[in-house]
Amino acid sequence: MHYIRLLRPPKLAPSQRAMHTELVFTITTDLGDSFLCPDEPIDLVVTADIYSPTGNVSCELSEHGKLQWLPGRRVAKPVYDLPPMAVNAMMSGDAVELCVGTASSFAAEDVRGILSSLGEKASQGGAGGLVMPVRVALNGPEADNDISTRKLRLSAASEPPEYLEVEEEIGESIARHVWDAGVVALSAIAGTYKFPGLESSQHPCMQALRRMFDDSETMNILELGCGVGILGTGLCAVYPRGAGDCTILMTDLDEAEGRARANIALLKHNRSGSQLGNANILYENLNWDHGRQGRFGRQVQRRRWDLIMLSDCTYNVDMLPALVETLSALHASNVEQVVDGDEPVSSRVFLATKPRHASERALFDLMAGAGWLTLETQVLPLPVLGGANESVEMYLFEKA
Ligand SMILES: C[S@@+](CC[C@H](N)C(=O)[O-])C[C@H]1O[C@@H](n2cnc3c(N)ncnc32)[C@H](O)[C@@H]1O
Repeated sequence: MHYIRLLRPPKLAPSQRAMHTELVFTITTDLGDSFLCPDEPIDLVVTADIYSPTGNVSCELSEHGKLQWLPGRRVAKPVYDLPPMAVNAMMSGDAVELCVGTASSFAAEDVRGILSSLGEKASQGGAGGLVMPVRVALNGPEADNDISTRKLRLSAASEPPEYLEVEEEIGESIARHVWDAGVVALSAIAGTYKFPGLESSQHPCMQALRRMFDDSETMNILELGCGVGILGTGLCAVYPRGAGDCTILMTDLDEAEGRARANIALLKHNRSGSQLGNANILYENLNWDHGRQGRFGRQVQRRRWDLIMLSDCTYNVDMLPALVETLSALHASNVEQVVDGDEPVSSRVFLATKPRHASERALFDLMAGAGWLTLETQVLPLPVLGGANESVEMYLFEKA
């Protein structure tokens, strides 16, 4: 998948007529290691979306066919006059957001579209890979110089709209933007609730997860390396049960804390007046260098974890021993919390990864060596525009 990324916040400046805005963006893979190089030029669309108490309006700034991403391009720097309606809205304090996206056949903007595109090559009539649009607030309470937003529709087009919004930091920090495995894993899990008939939702791996979510009286879910929190907040948004039944604790290094907490706050804000789930969602720092020694924070220590989940955390082979030892230390902590009369405890791990190089396979030897059994494996082919196909692999492990 490719992502439209702002390289700096949009500049606003008065122009002869009113006010203009300058955007500087690129389109890259999640790692940012290659630019989108499509076989044919791709039309891009820039809109100014106005949110006012009297209703929301979207004004297209780019003229049809005038803004294109061409093979070999690395950056685009369009300048647009803002329509008077957007300027007036800003003057009166209404929120105005710019959205840079592609023609809808390429746009990764909803769970249904993402799941349908998996494995769908251009030769079969599909887009052959998707591009995720980016949004940025020009004013209003959400406007922050360093923040852009990804917005994914969770519900079907025929249902009332439910969106997951996730803020990212403009720039290149690894912990502070979304990654393919997180986006695809979230889409697969959300699909089991929203689109149960899809092939990916019917897979034994997703069925096993759903049974866990549905059959347990209470569910404690711990996420490792949550980054901006797309998987944790996304699961929370689709999880149908309330705060008394389900706790999701997202964890990462302290440098990721601010953005992860901001996205929890955004989810809670968006919940009002929507169908977004009501599970209890928390954040605490957890560095695997501490976790491997059984050193956990207060929130991690206070619960027995029914499921530990992680996405795109296994690309750095040097960190794999610390990660696997952290998983085993969490299992040991689960076992310690067994009280007389309880069933013997087994711990489960849901892991999603987009393999990038062969050395990452070391994970499986480390997991097996530490006594983790692979219960299910699901592989989703991920077509890439103008590039070789990739895949997202999802695993369910258990340690008894
Ligand atoms: C590629 S990002 C994936 C983020 C997120 N899971 C997603 O799918 O969008 C990898 C994450 O692992 C975290 N990480 C790396 N080393 C870590 C460590 N030693 N302890 C805890 N988290 C770590 C990073 O901070 C980063 O957020």
